[in-house]
Amino acid sequence: MIFVYSLGGSILAGRDAVSLAEYAQALKELAAEHQIFVVVGGGRIAREYIEKARALGANETFCDMIGIGATKLNSALLVAALGDAAPQEIPDSYAQAARLAQPGKIVIMGGLAPGQTTDAVSALLAEYVHADKIIVATSVDGVYTADPEKDPAAKKLERMTPQGLAHLAMQTEMKAGSRSPVDPLAAKIIERSCIPTAIVLGSKIENLKKGALGGHTGTEIRPE
Ligand code: UTP
Repeated sequence: MIFVYSLGGSILAGRDAVSLAEYAQALKELAAEHQIFVVVGGGRIAREYIEKARALGANETFCDMIGIGATKLNSALLVAALGDAAPQEIPDSYAQAARLAQPGKIVIMGGLAPGQTTDAVSALLAEYVHADKIIVATSVDGVYTADPEKDPAAKKLERMTPQGLAHLAMQTEMKAGSRSPVDPLAAKIIERSCIPTAIVLGSKIENLKKGALGGHTGTEIRPE
């Protein structure tokens, strides 16, 4: 099967070399049987740099370009952790990513264009390579009915439709570095492509496999 991961930058950046190697090992095990693509987010570096640039008067497109730079930096770290299992080239297009895919090789890429996040890149890549599933491995453990940090009555949704996800994403603010389960473009692409999507807590290594093959405790996005 073909799996596309959207890996939040914070999940990699907080790890030491040993822990990065463990994460890479889990991806290699999956790649023995499946074709894997991983789109890496910008994490804390992106947020810090964007905040400073914005405070200095940089426009939002330029802030996005800084964010893309951070995603590429994090991608390079994962490429280093994967060694021979990943091409050293970080693709600048979906076509290039598809060309780099080979059995046993894990294609790693970062952001591409301003105005979106790496979730959108993952969704578009998933469409492009006819992926069986998108796994959003992020800093939250699923989609909630409300912000669990602000509302104690917030409940995690086991399942959600792509339309529900799109509706939720459209309500969030579209600003460089903003936080939401997925950005509006990603949600719209997931809606149009109907590719099954899992939103799981990426810091748990076992969620890489469970997100793809089942058994996780996050949110599954599927048509009714
Ligand atoms: P991320 O995809 O990491 O965004 O890209 P995020 O959702 O804010 O981060 P996580 O999931 O919490 O780690 C970081 C920033 O890079 C820019 C955006 O500004 C984004 O917020 N970016 C990224 C783009 O402009 N285009 C892309 O294709 C990717």
